[in-house]
Amino acid sequence: MSRYISALGFIVAIVGCASAQRVVVPAPDTLSISPADAQSLWRSACAPCHGLKGDLEGVDLSVFKKPPRDWSGIGPSFGFFFGGDKMRAGIYRSIHDGKDQMPAFAEILSSEQIWALVHHIEGL
Ligand code: HEC
Repeated sequence: MSRYISALGFIVAIVGCASAQRVVVPAPDTLSISPADAQSLWRSACAPCHGLKGDLEGVDLSVFKKPPRDWSGIGPSFGFFFGGDKMRAGIYRSIHDGKDQMPAFAEILSSEQIWALVHHIEGL
């Protein structure tokens, strides 16, 4: 039961942020970045804090005031299922703008790279 409650919290948090947001660069119809390239981008830029599978495995959580979420659980799947494009836009925005100890990637990644990572996270 508590898994479902935390899943709900997840959806409210992400979709809630997304609804109050500035315009996010819309997802291109086709991405020129392959899933394999998105995976290696994730591995180098994101996995040190999120874990290779987004499950926080091997990550030193003691450095975070508020640790990242476990993306491998049921919550994100619920979020993508019910939140759809709003959920994706919220994630795009978090990567673009950063959040607390999560660095902003707006200056480092192209919007296409960020979209590739949103899809990668959806598949974790
Ligand atoms: C230096 C560590 C660090 C790196 C590197 C990092 N993150 Fe994060 N990330 C965090 C932390 C900490 C949070 C939790 C922030 C919070 O909820 O306050 C987070 C949260 C997130 C969130 C969720 C934000 C939300 O709205 O709940 C997403 C999506 C995310 N990260 C994606 C990524 C992606 C994609 C990358 C690689 C491009 C990345 N992160 C790299 C530390 C990091």
